[in-house]
Amino acid sequence: MSDIIVSPSILSADFANLEDEIKSVVLSGAKWIHIDVMDGHFVPNITIGAPVVKSLRKITKEVLDVHLMIENPEKYIPDFIQAGSDIITFHLEAARAKACKCIDLIKEAGLKAGISIKPKTPVKEVIPYIDKVDMVLVMTVEPGFSGQIFMPKCAQKIAEIKKYKHEGLIIQVDGGINDKTAKICKDLGANCFVCGNYVFKSDDRKRVIKKLLSL
Ligand code: DX5
Ligand code: ZN
Repeated sequence: MSDIIVSPSILSADFANLEDEIKSVVLSGAKWIHIDVMDGHFVPNITIGAPVVKSLRKITKEVLDVHLMIENPEKYIPDFIQAGSDIITFHLEAARAKACKCIDLIKEAGLKAGISIKPKTPVKEVIPYIDKVDMVLVMTVEPGFSGQIFMPKCAQKIAEIKKYKHEGLIIQVDGGINDKTAKICKDLGANCFVCGNYVFKSDDRKRVIKKLLSL
């Protein structure tokens, strides 16, 4: 069995048919569903919030992988816990001095905690938290929109993070991921791939997910 995780991002799905869209990628082999939460402050875009996560919890048992691109994440993490998230990832740049508080809130609720860094944030800033989290998310585009071009320079951070990896740490990449860019990231040490357009805009979702799982 593949130890690769594919997490299709519903930001590229048809929001008018979210239930069908999620069922389609699950039937195509995805075990995680990536949910991009944006607040129009931390990133220049507004997407969805905890009520949507709550509704999605009712229609799928798969892992709800919630990516918070919001200011003051510590204020909203309890809502996303309540809503039924399985993994909550927040941005180091948004949390700063409250990063440990965010991790504690998530872990104390029995969820998996992830921490993410934007393209301009160096790996050394996230190192102090690696032992405390279940996942590090390396952004390979500027967060805010789907369908952007993968930034190869960001992927180099994966190799650096790998040096500090504890057993079980998931290294996730997000932004411009397709079979080619995922292969670059996998060779550097990533094992979890977020894909928006590559999966949802494909006319054969099963084929592209299978491609990723067999990298
Ligand atoms: C970007 C989001 C991504 C995005 C990925 O800020 O965090 O999850 O939806 O979309 P693609 O794979 O199309 O770049
Ligand atoms: Zn994301």
